[in-house]
Amino acid sequence: MATESDSSRELTFEIFRFNPLDPGSEPRMQTYTLREEPYMTLFRALNRIREEQDPGLQFDFACRSAVCGSCGMMINGRPTLACKTLTSDLASTIRLHPLPAFKLIGDLSVDTGTWFREMGSRVEAWVHERQAFDPEAIEEPMDDDLAVAIYESDRCIECGCCVASCGVANTRGDFLAPAGMNRVARFMMDPRDGRSTGDWFEVVASDEGVFGCIGLMACQDVCPKELPLLEVYGYLRRRALGAAFVRKQR
Ligand code: FES
Repeated sequence: MATESDSSRELTFEIFRFNPLDPGSEPRMQTYTLREEPYMTLFRALNRIREEQDPGLQFDFACRSAVCGSCGMMINGRPTLACKTLTSDLASTIRLHPLPAFKLIGDLSVDTGTWFREMGSRVEAWVHERQAFDPEAIEEPMDDDLAVAIYESDRCIECGCCVASCGVANTRGDFLAPAGMNRVARFMMDPRDGRSTGDWFEVVASDEGVFGCIGLMACQDVCPKELPLLEVYGYLRRRALGAAFVRKQR
């Protein structure tokens, strides 16, 4: 009688290998094979490869549930979360590369943390309060639609998939990229933040900001949280043009 494992596919993984800390390491692709399991994710597959075939293979995971953002990688050329990807949705040959645009730690592991920390410092990604905090004050209500819009931007898990998909971010390290623009929009919308559109003007209305985007539109396609990144760009362009108009009137 045929068993489940008889009918399962033999998967071939072609995985990028390189250790930048090892002077003897050369970038190369390494091939592994694995019998597919029911409902197998790439998280499961990579862990099995590491446990059973190659303990030196580097990749990142933490939450296994599309929340921490650490498992972004190029899966058959597309930036995607590995923990959210079922092998059954892919062809039997699976090619894995690290996300471009970030510093390589080794194999499939990249340093997204430094990129996001530097971006957060550049745009001062914290609420610049209009007035000093008063613990005795009554909580100020926020309009529901605005609260939802801010929450929507805050759903970014900083996986770096949108940055990796962006042609401009891949060629220019100074570009704030979709994740940076989304962060700017989040604080621009926040009524508790005292920065005016004019204060944001230098950050947003430049080649490093919204006007650096050349409209390839891959960022929204690949975002695993389905954030409306193109709407974010539209919102920032409108705010930047509004600020430019006000400047011209002066
Ligand atoms: S392991 Fe956390 S997002 Fe994939």
